[in-house]
Amino acid sequence: MSKPTTEKLPVEFLFSPEFSRDPYTQYGALRERGPVHAVEFIPGTDIPAFLVIDYEHGRAALNDPRLAKGSRHAPAFFHREEVSTNPALAENMLNTDPPDHTRLRKLVTKAFTPRRTESLRPRIQEITDGLIDAMEPRGRAELIDDFAFPLPVTVICELLGVPAEDRDDFRHWSAVLLAPAFTPEEIRLRDEVNAAIHAYFGEITAARRADPRDDLVSALVTAHDEDDLLSDQELVAAFTLLLIAGHETTVNLIGNGMLALLTHPGQLRLLQDGPELIPAAIEEFLRYDGPVERATLRFATEDMEIAGVAVPKGSVVQISLGAAGRDPALVEAPDTLDITRADVRHIAFGHGIHFCLGAPLARLEGTIAFGTLLRRLPGIALDCPVEEIGWRAGSIIRGVQALPVRF
Ligand code: HEM
Repeated sequence: MSKPTTEKLPVEFLFSPEFSRDPYTQYGALRERGPVHAVEFIPGTDIPAFLVIDYEHGRAALNDPRLAKGSRHAPAFFHREEVSTNPALAENMLNTDPPDHTRLRKLVTKAFTPRRTESLRPRIQEITDGLIDAMEPRGRAELIDDFAFPLPVTVICELLGVPAEDRDDFRHWSAVLLAPAFTPEEIRLRDEVNAAIHAYFGEITAARRADPRDDLVSALVTAHDEDDLLSDQELVAAFTLLLIAGHETTVNLIGNGMLALLTHPGQLRLLQDGPELIPAAIEEFLRYDGPVERATLRFATEDMEIAGVAVPKGSVVQISLGAAGRDPALVEAPDTLDITRADVRHIAFGHGIHFCLGAPLARLEGTIAFGTLLRRLPGIALDCPVEEIGWRAGSIIRGVQALPVRF
């Protein structure tokens, strides 16, 4: 029999500054009551929604064909015209199910090959060294703006083949598209950004069609033109997804990971003395405090149960990848940062058909970033009391607002 779920977790709480400051204590308290919790998804609506906070059910949910990504399975609320019109994001692989997902992922995978990622290694090192060269003489830096943000953004711009100088626009677009858009003002802003993205990529697409280069935009334009397998809308959506993924995630792998090290001096020393531990440390950072912490969404396409909780058809299922990483059933002492753990497991890159396509790039960027920061700035330390570090609230992304350091 399904357990009744009477008490709903208010969404304001889940996305509040209080929750963002220390989500893991909150998850710990929730865990006492079970792995699946009813949540209020949009205040004032009765959309059934559930939050999954354990590793076993979270991982299974990510790969459950009954839980879909496509908006046609979403509750009616999402189909109201003003809410659903988000073309720059609507038709990307992360928002589609097979067979569309299979087709879109195959096309992007063909262009975004391991060889292309690996070929970026010397350039990533060069960008990393350039950013540290600029910070070093000052003896102080704000590690997010001076390093963790410009590194992955420059890399994704170069990979796509768009000018890195346009990154202020991209940062703005990315922030707007990931924020909720329900009020008339939010919807107006989102529509403006959609129009700007279409105009921007329309121009770039035309330029690469006339004069192809060795970049992802050219490769996808060729796939679009030659195979007729990608609509104009899907082409723009693929660029937008890659641009946003390159903006919002690796920055927080570097930011959250550095904060974890700077607040655990023993672990910092271990890594400085043993840089060969860096790949394992990156997996531990992803488990301990990963960038996509709060939730990734699915829609139930039929009545089902998760961990004995009834989940009716049309429900929103939010899987907390961050809570799963702190599940005591996953690792011993889950709240302890331990970069020497053998075979760290996590679902910080997702699981199943939507497993992160950029994981090899994120790992490569992380390896170079941590390795170079620790080697070149051996005296690096936090330059403010840890209590003053502010976290971004109201977002599925977990990241600090700023990370002042001295060295
Ligand atoms: C998908 C996390 C970096 C591109 C995902 C998903 C997660 C994730 C959790 C799956 C979401 C779901 O199943 O609902 C991360 C993290 C990163 C990172 C933690 C950095 C540490 C990147 C980068 C790129 C990228 C650098 C590209 C340049 C993608 C794409 C998908 C995806 C295209 C969609 C895959 C699909 O739907 O088949 N990522 N990501 N990610 N990620 Fe990443």
